[in-house]
Amino acid sequence: MDKNIIVAIDGYSSCGKSTLAKALAKKLHYIYVDSGAMYRAVALYFLRNNIDTHDHAQIEDALKNIHLNFHSRDYETHITLNGEEVSEEIRMMPVSEKVSEVSALKEVRREMVKQQQRMGESKNIVMDGRDIGTAVFPDAPIKIFMTADPAVRAQRRYDEIHHKNPDLTLEDIFENIAHRDYQDTTREESPLIRAKDALILDNTNLTPDEQLHFALDKVEKLKG
Ligand code: DC
Repeated sequence: MDKNIIVAIDGYSSCGKSTLAKALAKKLHYIYVDSGAMYRAVALYFLRNNIDTHDHAQIEDALKNIHLNFHSRDYETHITLNGEEVSEEIRMMPVSEKVSEVSALKEVRREMVKQQQRMGESKNIVMDGRDIGTAVFPDAPIKIFMTADPAVRAQRRYDEIHHKNPDLTLEDIFENIAHRDYQDTTREESPLIRAKDALILDNTNLTPDEQLHFALDKVEKLKG
């Protein structure tokens, strides 16, 4: 097997990070980890249990009671929260609205980063998120920072989820994306920033295939 390779993909919300990460992992037979799904599952637990995000003891307690597991089936993200499959519920609006607040908590980040680092210890993985190339795997040999026009991102997200959430308007989604961009980039703990050595991939006008080629090319060059 090649030496343990980690591909870190970071960027704004709804930028197509998971589409690229999944396609790349599939092509290379690497493990795919959607780190955002972990923060979403934690946010779901906080919502269901009314955890007060200002109460540090409650947060620590909650984290002790949260057990997350991924099962990869055909590179789709399947995540369980304390044994319950929550992959669909974590994509719904209540979680999307709560997740920025929960993912800004330092206790939550500390625990998630620890679990993510463990996943990358001896395996080839593609992980996407916000701080993968800066905090989780600062030594990753391949880092990609994705960005795209916010209006294009909102439209893509709308096309993806409106059949499941028919009351949602494009404006709602645009606002949610703008809000998350603001929160992600201005929070104190591991804000979303481009690692100095990350390659920028603006996919406003790129097809998924073009993006995959871009990333594959970097991995092939690394492997030599
Ligand atoms: O990628 P996503 O939209 O599913 O992520 C959900 C939220 O989790 C997003 O608002 C930012 C946060 N997140 C994070 O803070 N760090 C990560 N590595 C991944 C996601």
